[in-house]
Amino acid sequence: MAIKEIVGLQYGDEGKGRASHFEAKNASIVIRSTGGCNAGHTVVANGVKYAMHLLPSSIIRPEVLSMIGPGVVADLKVLSEEIEQMRKANIQVEKSNFVISQRTHITLPHHRELDRLYEALRNNKVGTTGRGVGPTYEEKARRTNLRMIDLFLDEKDLKQKIELNLKNYNILSTNVNEQIQLGKIEAEKFLEITVEEEYNYCMKYKEIVKDFIADTYPIIEKAIEENKLIIIEGAQSFYLDNDHGDYPMTTSSNPNASGTVSGAGIGPTLVNEVIGVIKTYTSRVGNGPFITEQKNEIGDTIRELGHEYGTTTGRPRRTGWLDLVMIKHAKIPSGLTSLCVNHLDTIGNLPEIKVCIGYEYKGQTITNVPIDKENCKPIYKEFKGGWKTESATTFEELPKEAQDYIHFIEEFVGVPVKYIGVGADEKRTIVK
Ligand code: IMP
Repeated sequence: MAIKEIVGLQYGDEGKGRASHFEAKNASIVIRSTGGCNAGHTVVANGVKYAMHLLPSSIIRPEVLSMIGPGVVADLKVLSEEIEQMRKANIQVEKSNFVISQRTHITLPHHRELDRLYEALRNNKVGTTGRGVGPTYEEKARRTNLRMIDLFLDEKDLKQKIELNLKNYNILSTNVNEQIQLGKIEAEKFLEITVEEEYNYCMKYKEIVKDFIADTYPIIEKAIEENKLIIIEGAQSFYLDNDHGDYPMTTSSNPNASGTVSGAGIGPTLVNEVIGVIKTYTSRVGNGPFITEQKNEIGDTIRELGHEYGTTTGRPRRTGWLDLVMIKHAKIPSGLTSLCVNHLDTIGNLPEIKVCIGYEYKGQTITNVPIDKENCKPIYKEFKGGWKTESATTFEELPKEAQDYIHFIEEFVGVPVKYIGVGADEKRTIVK
């Protein structure tokens, strides 16, 4: 039996989908367990690019059971459209290879409006993806939110639940719309959303998702009893985690390794491997501290070379050097057993490569991440770049400089590198 978890250690978009897709080769179940359609997982397999927001990347392997776990919040429309898009691309999405937990929470249209509303009320904007993910988690915590199982309620009971779920939005939007009218808040007016509209929304997409909704616990239990391989596919990342990340510039959930395993419905002692995914540089969408950010030609070059534009929003990502202090700091709270380092090919295009190995902080040199990151200035180590990885299929075939760079990461973080991404296609993964 083996249970492996794949989590991001930076600000999302590290290439978790690719690592998960690679691991899924031998898996019986792949579980997406946190976040919502704020995530954008891109997988390039057999020359075809698939962009997913909610479906686990294993969906392109019909022999694997892809699962959406209890910790996910799923927008019914986005999920339904993704299922249909996959089917159009001749990807099998059937009861036999896809299951959604009865406990998965539902994102409704008013959650998106709430997302916009909360941003309008703040001075220090988070820069959310605007997909209603934070407000869904908020209403989940408030115990007013709908779960997949609720789609099977009779009309009267479901409408009652929607009414309770909508109440907060109705009160807030009426109030804020009045203030917009008076010129006290600058924003587009917030939509009036009725119980009837959200009920119809539920009914429309229920048709597409209903056959997949099931109790996921017995399925996982059976797979564990049969010694099958289970992969838990993380979303977002350690530094977007509400408890351990750059709060309040975080996503409203716990995409750290513990939150990810919890969201799948599996206990921490059952996990054999935690694979932390990083890139050879850092990118961030949205606001918040970014110690190694390069708002200059280097940052622009990294953005273009790495195609750093949001899968979900299309926003150009902020870019900068790899910050190894951040990765090392995430080691213990993540319980890391190995690393997957993506974009070794991308960074090799630069003649000189920098890696952050410490911070100047209040007159001292430190190698940990303090809560007030904004007071840190990076201390860099330089590497000679200009390496090419095209012909390499093993670690030993990589140029010496690239090998040294990977060895340095391993030594600094104190965790072995297991996978190295040297190209967009998942076939361009070197197993070390
Ligand atoms: P939210 O999750 O839409 O509420 O956005 C909160 C913050 O997390 C924003 O900075 C987003 O850009 C960021 N974020 C959320 N999901 C992802 C992701 O999958 N990749 C990268 N950034 C993300």
